[in-house]
Amino acid sequence: MKHPFPGRHPATRPRRLRQEPWIRAMTAESRLVPEDLIQAVILREDDAPAGPVPAMPGIARATADEAVEIARKASALGLPALALFPQTGPEHRSAEAQLALDPGNLMCRAARAIKAEAPGIGLIADVALDPYTDHGHDGLLREGVILNDETVELLTRQALVLAEAGYDVLAPSDMMDGRIAAIRTALDEGGYADRLILSYAVKYASRFYGPYRDAIGSRGVLQGDKRTYQMDPRNAEEGLREVALDVAEGADMVMVKPGLPYLDMVARVKDGFGVPTVAFQVSGEYAMLACAAEAGAFDFEAAGLEALACFRRAGADAIVSYYAIRAAEWLSDPAR
Ligand code: PBG
Repeated sequence: MKHPFPGRHPATRPRRLRQEPWIRAMTAESRLVPEDLIQAVILREDDAPAGPVPAMPGIARATADEAVEIARKASALGLPALALFPQTGPEHRSAEAQLALDPGNLMCRAARAIKAEAPGIGLIADVALDPYTDHGHDGLLREGVILNDETVELLTRQALVLAEAGYDVLAPSDMMDGRIAAIRTALDEGGYADRLILSYAVKYASRFYGPYRDAIGSRGVLQGDKRTYQMDPRNAEEGLREVALDVAEGADMVMVKPGLPYLDMVARVKDGFGVPTVAFQVSGEYAMLACAAEAGAFDFEAAGLEALACFRRAGADAIVSYYAIRAAEWLSDPAR
């Protein structure tokens, strides 16, 4: 047989860097540690059914008491924060989303309980009206139109109620124009200059939110879609303009959402702006991994860790995930 490299060996053999675990670890370009992981938690009232979330095997909604336990566990594993979302039954939803402004609502009770019993972990609140509206939209709806400025006014009040309950990070996920500046001003004037804003700056109108809408009780009620405020999945430049606006308006951190199908945006945002960039591995991504694992396509743990590592490679500083705690346990297991 003819020698494949006539006259000499190849000067560079990339496989030399891959031959043993120690050299792969030494030259790895990114790392995944529990400090990168934010646990997403869907809250439920004590009397709401405890069953699993459809299409999300292994995920159950948590009562406020259970959320305290989750916070303790997350803290012990080194997770920096929890991101909370409330399930709301149809009987508590309304056109004007009044429950969003009630300091006694589930989100506020859970924050107070966690801050009292398990202080030290960061709490991130979704700021948007969709868990509270009877039409399932993130904003106020009049004659088929989502009202921007009226919604922003409500969101600023919602942000203050959440800050008062103890949330460290306000995370507007509604995609109304101008809401970051309005919320920043309201927080500063309300005595909450220390609270952070994590803007869902690059948020797409995505089918991958399907299981989440089941989880919070929005699926049956949502009228139409969210394409007049969430972004078109075909667009990238528009997302960069959104980030520029939100950073100028006072966002401390920005979010890209969904995650895996949008890693180009994670990379471009991180490279282009250099601000803390968080990616949301959304409910439909969890469903894809968990349902495929259940069907025997792969091992959930291995595929799940691979997916999270890819977020880090793309440049995400932190990842919101429905299996953040499980991933932290896998990462901390010395047998791995
Ligand atoms: C709504 C909101 C959504 C998610 C987080 N906040 C859904 C939507 O915009 O319809 C999705 C989370 C997920 O799918 O895991 N403000």
